[in-house]
Amino acid sequence: MAKLNWGMIGGGEGSQIGPAHRLGAQADGHFAFVAGALDHRPEAGRAYAQRLGIAPDRAYGDWKEMLEGERSRADRIDLVTVATPNSTHYEITRAFLEAGFHVLCEKPMTMTVEEGEDITRIAERTGRICAVNYCYSAYPMVRQARAMVRAGDIGKVRLVVTNFSHGHHADATDADNPRVRWRYDPAMAGVSGQFADCGIHALHMASFICDDEVEKLSADFASTIPSRQLEDDAMVNFRMSRGTVGRLWTSSVAIGRQHGFDIQVFGETGGLRWHSEQPNQLIYTPVGGRTQIIEKGEAGLYDEARRLSRVAIAHPEGFPLAVANIYCDLADAIRGEARDGLPLAPAGVRSMAAVHAAVASARAGGTWVDARPPMFR
Ligand code: NAI
Repeated sequence: MAKLNWGMIGGGEGSQIGPAHRLGAQADGHFAFVAGALDHRPEAGRAYAQRLGIAPDRAYGDWKEMLEGERSRADRIDLVTVATPNSTHYEITRAFLEAGFHVLCEKPMTMTVEEGEDITRIAERTGRICAVNYCYSAYPMVRQARAMVRAGDIGKVRLVVTNFSHGHHADATDADNPRVRWRYDPAMAGVSGQFADCGIHALHMASFICDDEVEKLSADFASTIPSRQLEDDAMVNFRMSRGTVGRLWTSSVAIGRQHGFDIQVFGETGGLRWHSEQPNQLIYTPVGGRTQIIEKGEAGLYDEARRLSRVAIAHPEGFPLAVANIYCDLADAIRGEARDGLPLAPAGVRSMAAVHAAVASARAGGTWVDARPPMFR
């Protein structure tokens, strides 16, 4: 099967997420990396793209040049990834969708709910795919958890408890470091700091595994380093449309936690637990029974998990291969085979609505607020 053509905006040299996209997009032979506007400094972006093997005429200085350059080519890109800082996602994603390209946008998809609704409608109108990189949902054992919930293996879900808490912004003496500071600056980050950065992965995961949507929430935000204008710690209680009770803690000052993203789902007949630092295992306990470890690659997994397990049991797969699973689903979708697990623009706008609802709730002392975007009420 011919490779699809792929380009990236952002994700330049030294960026955090760029390498995971490059590894992920190319891991399974679905995409050829043929175009890029990789850096906010045009010359640095052009030079780096060429070092990565992109032809000089497709190593662009900025995204507008890339849009114009790709638009009219016979071999134009099939998919563009937007891996720039948050405040640029809307404008770039909108322009590429309108020009007929499929887009994979980094999270958070937009800064406002209105922008998120706009992107969702443009994707619908143009028939283009707009995916959002909720890559944790593409780990094989997360797909297994979702399949188990759907199959009724733990009965009706009563409760979901999740946290995404790390300690990497805990050092008050480092709070002015430019790579840290922008995340708590409303001009750069928007209305929310830690909740919009990490909390939305956890909230998306709760919806994804429970196969349900967040309806309302109540939030408590704190800036534990007082110079920060945005929260570095948040506790969010939520309810889902089928009555599931949700609890979410997210923090960037939890010293000792590295990448502490985990989720537990408690149903009427069993419980599940998945932890991002041991992503190849899913812990399952049937009511009254023994705790079992379900391993990626073992026999008897649901198809959704088996399909995305590449290397043998006990050979670890990690973050870039979870991103690669998003690209596999995207390649299938671009070729016309719908993939149910692929996070799309509606998931992106739901996250934005939850972020704005949490900010409103926290400002109002924790009152319960409708967390759904107007278009889905
Ligand atoms: P970063 O600051 O490490 O890198 C940003 C890159 O984008 C740099 O190479 C910069 O030169 C380039 N850039 C900035 N403005 C640009 C423009 N207008 N045109 C072209 N290139 C531009 O940022 P990081 O951490 O890689 O984050 C990028 C995005 O990825 C953010 O939206 C972030 O939320 C998201 N992210 C998602 C993760 C996930 O798990 N899905 C994990 C980490 C980041």
